[in-house]
Amino acid sequence: MRKTIVAGNWKMFTDLAEANELITGLKNNFQNKNQIEVVVCPPFTHLSAVSLSLQGSSIQLGAQNVYPEEKGAYTGEISPAMLKSVGCQYVIVGHSERREYFHESNAFLNKKLQFALQNGLTPIYCVGEKLEERESDQTFKVIEAQLKEGLSGFSAAQLKNIVIAYEPVWAIGTGKTASPEQAQEVHAFIRQELAKLSDAATADAITIQYGGSVKPDNVTELMGKPDIDGALVGGASLKADSFLAIVNY
Ligand code: PGA
Repeated sequence: MRKTIVAGNWKMFTDLAEANELITGLKNNFQNKNQIEVVVCPPFTHLSAVSLSLQGSSIQLGAQNVYPEEKGAYTGEISPAMLKSVGCQYVIVGHSERREYFHESNAFLNKKLQFALQNGLTPIYCVGEKLEERESDQTFKVIEAQLKEGLSGFSAAQLKNIVIAYEPVWAIGTGKTASPEQAQEVHAFIRQELAKLSDAATADAITIQYGGSVKPDNVTELMGKPDIDGALVGGASLKADSFLAIVNY
């Protein structure tokens, strides 16, 4: 059974007071009428505080990044066990901003996925093409490599514990959303690739989120597509009212 998961990626926004205010607004007004799993992914500095505020609510906690080692001399980095210890269930891996600005390769992301899974975290693995790749008909090729290399070596049982987020880079933070048809086409392709890496039943059970300028006014149409099982939301998750309108779509 696929879960519908909507995650809010706050990126490098909010100070602690703003984060607390946002969480209070979400907690008090999330009705869960669609039976979806809602995840908030605040910056590392707010994870403990947000985790405490979320106690007793069904909203889950995720981190935006993780370092692929158990422990050691890696100044400034955070291990999967540390994330678990403050109550994280999810972690975003391979966001296009990490790939672009921090040069994270598919092989390095594969290691992050391994460590996250080993420590009982559910990774949200991001894939997606840049504008020039779409324009030169490279979309499927790029995504195929991100999936094959990033997910290499995982069993079907492990793959079932990974969430995939399709985020066309040209749609992130730009206000340009992929049309529901464009998104569905790539989601169906991703599911087909996942089946090649495992089997059809496993691929069918994996949650594939869409991300890239998801807003209250386009979420319903996107979620109506057969292979779109959730959303990864950036900008619109930074205001309780717009994030609530999305999760209560
Ligand atoms: P956006 O960001 O909703 O602001 O486009 C999505 C993301 O980067 O995950």
